[in-house]
Amino acid sequence: MQDAKEEIRARLPIEDVVGQYIELKRAGRSLKGHSPWGTDRTPSFMVSPDKGIWHDFSSNKGGDIFSFVMEMEGCSFREAVEKLAQQAGVELGRYSADDRKQAQRRQRLYDVLELATKYYQFCLTKNKAVMQYVFYQRNLNKSTVEDFRVGYAPKSGRALVDFLKKRGYSAREMEDAGLVNRFGGDLFKGRMTIPLMDATGKVIGFTARIIEKDENAPKYLNTPETILYNKGRHVFGFSQARDAIRRSDFVVVVEGNMDVISSHQAGVRQAVATAGTAMTENHLKSFSRMTKDIRLAYDGDEAGIRAAERAISMASKFGIYLSVIDDYHGCKDADELIQKDPKLWQEAVESYRPALEWLLEKYETKYNLRTERGFQEYCNIAKKLINEIDPKDTALRERYERIVSERLGISLEAFRAKEVETPEPKRLKKPNVAAGSGEAVSRAEKNLAAIVQSGKVELADFEPMDFNKDELVLIFEERYAAYKTVELQREAEELLVKVKKERREGERRELEAEIQAAETAGDEEKLRELMLKMSKMLREK
Ligand code: UTP
Ligand code: MN
Repeated sequence: MQDAKEEIRARLPIEDVVGQYIELKRAGRSLKGHSPWGTDRTPSFMVSPDKGIWHDFSSNKGGDIFSFVMEMEGCSFREAVEKLAQQAGVELGRYSADDRKQAQRRQRLYDVLELATKYYQFCLTKNKAVMQYVFYQRNLNKSTVEDFRVGYAPKSGRALVDFLKKRGYSAREMEDAGLVNRFGGDLFKGRMTIPLMDATGKVIGFTARIIEKDENAPKYLNTPETILYNKGRHVFGFSQARDAIRRSDFVVVVEGNMDVISSHQAGVRQAVATAGTAMTENHLKSFSRMTKDIRLAYDGDEAGIRAAERAISMASKFGIYLSVIDDYHGCKDADELIQKDPKLWQEAVESYRPALEWLLEKYETKYNLRTERGFQEYCNIAKKLINEIDPKDTALRERYERIVSERLGISLEAFRAKEVETPEPKRLKKPNVAAGSGEAVSRAEKNLAAIVQSGKVELADFEPMDFNKDELVLIFEERYAAYKTVELQREAEELLVKVKKERREGERRELEAEIQAAETAGDEEKLRELMLKMSKMLREK
């Protein structure tokens, strides 16, 4: 793969690859164009043909030809390599025997999961009681069942394993595909099965629901993480929703897989779910590549509020419009509402509200603003939430500052002047973020790394993330070339304060997401360990 990558790089000049998407004009040694993500008035997208890299100053993304195609096409690294290999006329296969073996192994996993899907689909047609559950209790119609490939995993402990063995699959392969339990028997037994698919519709795992009520078994059982299935990245229903999302330019994020399926059947095909885990930055990022209009259909309960809150603080990084759908007419989820009347759901997805407005209202109801304590707490939370808004968006900030100060019965100035205390942590760890291109990295992180790599300033106890060195050089030249050393030092120190704050926030959010995942999974031990970590983190502040 490495050789192939280099060969592709050598054959495809970066300005040609980028030029297929963006109009570029020469500007000295580099080329400039308008950002495909921002609304820049002057061209803020730069390509350096010498270095083979690009950088977008308006969104702060950057990288090489592969990351550019990933960003533009919303595809994986592998898909980007394949696409560019074709353009460059490079044959991927002949480069490395290891890569080929790896690819073959993956293909076998796709194959075994496809076969399992067909097997489960077949088993459904043979079981009257389960057909009754699927078609009458859950009210799914034939085309929905076919589209989502709903099936049934038989009760006997080895039905699938035996079937797959006869078809030539090894125990190891079944295990790698996440189809067996720790005794080597079927993982899913006596459950309705719903395949988890990747963005192209290939099956990468399953979620399976019990049919008869059983207090001792979890309602849903899911494929564990495998080579193919990554929980934090997977979006349920994406392959089926993709076209509708593109066409209508919005996405509806619901809580459960069955909500997605019902929603599609009700004609709202923009529905997807991050079922089973809290929404991660990866999820938001893949949505934001398709549309900036993201509508959350979460519960108004504590968990729903926390989820919305986390999404809000991530959203500002991606420049998306986050809103909330919360009119369920007293039903507990989208599915229930659709069972009542599909029209109500169709209307609900059109009556959405800005997430921040919704959240502030929730807090307003939660705290009694007439008491001093409630006033303080609401004030603090509102301040923090408003601070998540992009500082450049002064109009939006002011809008919310006005709303909140009016609620509190204080002047806009008093609210603005109020400080939220954020104590310093002991040390500053390097955050665990993949280096390279479009990861959600803040402007401050990158700018600071650019200054540090110049070697012109000294910063104790700061470890920059691993960015592409050339990209940092480019940023430095573009931004700081004219700075005097003292100015640079001052800029670096200011950035450091910001970076510290962001990293602390990031760590806290990551931990919160892990805690919620452990809660969902019912993993008591993990939960205890994480809570301990959280209280330690809070103490360190
Ligand atoms: P819900 O309990 O809200 O599921 O959990 P639902 O979609 O309404 O299920 P039905 O309507 O009773 O069939 C939301 C999501 O959380 C995950 C599943 O992905 C589910 O879609 N979950 C829930 C689990 O992974 N395991 C569970 O035991 C329960
Ligand atoms: Mn439900």
